[in-house]
Amino acid sequence: MARAQPRYVCQECGAEHRKWMGRCESCGAWNSIAEEAPAAPIAAGIKAPRKGHHLALEGLKGSAAAPERRLTGISELDRVLGGGLVPASAVLVAGDPGIGKSTILLQACAALADRGMATLYVSGEEATDQLRMRAARTGLANSAVKLATATSVADIVSTIEAMTGAEAPKLLVIDSIQTMHVDGIDSAPGTVSQVRGAAQVLIALAKRRDLAVIMVGHVTKEGQIAGPRVLEHMVDTVLYFEGERGHQFRILRAVKNRFGPTDEIGVFEMSDGGLAEVKNPSAMFLGREDGTAGGPVPGAAVFAGIEGTRPVLVEIQALVAPSTLAAPRRAVVGWDTARLAMVIAVLDARCGLALSGHDVYLSVAGGLRVSEPAADLAVAAALVSSLADQAAPEATMFFGEIGLSGEVRPVGAREPRLREAAKLGFATAIVPPEPGRGSKARAPAGIRTLELKTLSELLPLFGIDARRRAPGGTPRRPARRHEEMEG
Ligand code: TYD
Ligand code: MG
Repeated sequence: MARAQPRYVCQECGAEHRKWMGRCESCGAWNSIAEEAPAAPIAAGIKAPRKGHHLALEGLKGSAAAPERRLTGISELDRVLGGGLVPASAVLVAGDPGIGKSTILLQACAALADRGMATLYVSGEEATDQLRMRAARTGLANSAVKLATATSVADIVSTIEAMTGAEAPKLLVIDSIQTMHVDGIDSAPGTVSQVRGAAQVLIALAKRRDLAVIMVGHVTKEGQIAGPRVLEHMVDTVLYFEGERGHQFRILRAVKNRFGPTDEIGVFEMSDGGLAEVKNPSAMFLGREDGTAGGPVPGAAVFAGIEGTRPVLVEIQALVAPSTLAAPRRAVVGWDTARLAMVIAVLDARCGLALSGHDVYLSVAGGLRVSEPAADLAVAAALVSSLADQAAPEATMFFGEIGLSGEVRPVGAREPRLREAAKLGFATAIVPPEPGRGSKARAPAGIRTLELKTLSELLPLFGIDARRRAPGGTPRRPARRHEEMEG
């Protein structure tokens, strides 16, 4: 047999190359390829080839029992997991350092332990005393969580295999997978081979012992630490813990879930006593205790969004100012730059607003990241409001997608959006026409809908005559719409 060759593995995507290269051909990352020792068959579980068994084949018909769930009691976490932890499953919790991964997982362990389930928290990063300090800080000092400091996967497996009965953990937290190492793989902890090897062994352990394993994965801005990407394919559920450093809000987002909906979010607030659940995220993102819109200000528009299965109201803020630059600035936080460019272009071309000579800043308040096209209309409203220096009508919210020809297009989940807004005291909803119902669409009690067919119908709300040029442009005499488009 030929001597095993050293391998050159991209630490970003896990692709293997025959020689070192400055740039990974597979994912395009620069300077991400590191030499790793040849793969050891032990870790990969590969033995000498043998003749295969015949598999027992089954039909699709038959009863598929819904997996039994273990509720942590932290409802925001349970929601993101799709209704609690699933036994024999593997979850990856990824996020920037310092975002609160260790905190939330220790809290989850403690919550499960309080419900009489054995839990084990293994840290490869912190000493037990540090964990105790965190527990004391978050008021969990008396919890029955078992702690261990370890970096050897073999040690962790033997420990768990030796635990039986009520003592056998139902949840195992590995903090973090980058610190773990598997015997038989020579690469350093944190390399793709180690991370993959360690995860493989731990996932196998989870299936065998019917426990849920949650692995922490660090991602740095530079992508220096290997791992999470290759892990995403191996685990059942991938949660991202997000949040702006300056904000106390933290959002746990499911990006992959074999047992529940994706794009579900859980909202937490980092406090002195650990992470607290935010039961009413809309109120939080609107920055008002009761959730109702305060005194309206120019440049702000409330968007009724849907995050996963839940409506969430957020404030979209815009600042539009005349630019002295040849290429005016466009800065966006929490939304898509390309979509902003599109909304600006439509306002420019279809509504005659001269935004091309203005700097535009757009921000989603509260640190939420919005990805729905349904936010188009609220973004347009915030832009127009800032440009006209006129606040949106009081207690008004917006949703709707904007097409390139300036039409306002229907979006999904109309009812839940309206209901959430009504609940929070909004009186008017500026919305797309509802397909198939004409203008006689139903709205929940307490909220009036104003349906816009085209974006230009938005302008009068901000005191701009739709048929004239906006402030900053030259006013002109009323013209019919098709003439305006040519102009
Ligand atoms: P941590 O859970 O250690 O982050 P990660 O495991 O993702 O690296 O959280 C670290 C931050 O959270 C740290 O900057 C301090 C802050 N924090 C609080 O504000 N309150 C608390 O009760 C705790 C435990 C942490
Ligand atoms: Mg940590």
